[in-house]
Amino acid sequence: MAFQIPRGTQDVLPGDSEKWQYVEHIARSLCSRYGYQEIRTPIFEHTELFLRGVGDTTDIVQKEMYTFEDKGGRALTLRPEGTAPVVRAFVEHKLYGSPNQPLKLYYSGPMFRYERPEAGRFRQFVQFGVEALGSSDPAIDAEVMALAMHIYEALGLKRIRLVINSLGDLDSRRAHREALVRHFSNRIHELCPDCQTRLHTNPLRILDCKKDRDHELMATAPSILDYLNDESRAYFEKVKQYLTALGIPFVIDARLVRGLDYYNHTTFEIMSEAEGFGAAATLCGGGRYNGLVQEIGGPETPGIGFALSIERLLAALDAEGVELPVESGLDCYVVAVGERAKDEAVRLVYALRRFGLRVDQDYLGRKLKAQLKAADRLGASFVAIIGDEELERQEAAVKHMASGEQTNVPLGELAHFLHERIGKEE
Ligand code: HAM
Repeated sequence: MAFQIPRGTQDVLPGDSEKWQYVEHIARSLCSRYGYQEIRTPIFEHTELFLRGVGDTTDIVQKEMYTFEDKGGRALTLRPEGTAPVVRAFVEHKLYGSPNQPLKLYYSGPMFRYERPEAGRFRQFVQFGVEALGSSDPAIDAEVMALAMHIYEALGLKRIRLVINSLGDLDSRRAHREALVRHFSNRIHELCPDCQTRLHTNPLRILDCKKDRDHELMATAPSILDYLNDESRAYFEKVKQYLTALGIPFVIDARLVRGLDYYNHTTFEIMSEAEGFGAAATLCGGGRYNGLVQEIGGPETPGIGFALSIERLLAALDAEGVELPVESGLDCYVVAVGERAKDEAVRLVYALRRFGLRVDQDYLGRKLKAQLKAADRLGASFVAIIGDEELERQEAAVKHMASGEQTNVPLGELAHFLHERIGKEE
């Protein structure tokens, strides 16, 4: 019986894994440029954390969590997102007491959601995210959005759009919530069963319904932006002003409510506008969550962050035809002909690797011609051929694959020779 990968998951094979590494490398180095440090949290947490953190009326909690009981009878859940775990760690390790405030963190790792798999939607996917905890300066909202946009731009994406909204503070949300209930109550039976439930649990989420998106009640629904109190309005103005000052274009969408409960004030998404990109166009989502640290048992601490999916990022790069400058191939393939040469090759390959070069050799007892073919397939810049004659003279016949140019190089100088030549090529 042949085994198959579980639905909604994927293998990243060589050829693609280099792209993943490259993307993660760029994202990490930009995070460090912006003053964010890495945090790593477990892949599973107590289920209760997500009920509290993500919100028990959200789709994630109600339909999508991978929850299980361990052998000790604990309810655990494979993390569906990274914000609640980061906040849990922030509270548990009392990082709010650290002199570095705001605390700026980033993470990268697999998340799990039991969703219907389709293009760009997986059951295990990798999020790269940041969380800035401890500041309610609108400049940090702008910084977080700038960082997300910077990551995409550094990778070569051009057709991306930043969409922002404000959900306001608790008071504004309450006023808007009441207006939504008034708006939908009389005709709620025209909407789907989920919306009918949401009317009582979380009416804001009605605006995010995929099924009833085109119902006329949606277009006429009260806009949160009309319910922002003065403070929330001033905060949003300042965020927009900073984005403008940074030269980052954005559009405002009052219906951007996001799928998690912890948001207030700024929310945002980054979409791909590449042709034919389809439904999973949201590359990145984030926002401010000023009540979450308290909800999870810590002191009142504001926070803001985002998470982007690497799968969707790579798909967007594909859709825009961007080739990543990924490093593959070898500096040198050592070709040995004959048993004595083979013994020398084993030693030489190790020495070259210790020197810092990317080197490989044949392990299948192939003939000269087949070894040269292998070197070519592996993208070697040079081959170093050793046969009996070369061995006698303690030399290798070194061939530059691109030009065909050939030189004899003493074995003792091979490392330096390759190093110098490869340095020149780069
Ligand atoms: P989210 O919108 O649920 O937010 O997810 C963020 C991003 O993860 C989405 O924009 C999307 O690109 C990607 N994503 C979500 N579900 C899937 C899936 N099934 N397959 C592939 N990609 C997916 C959060 O998770 C928040 N924790 C973001 C955040 C951080 N807010 C504040 N800080």
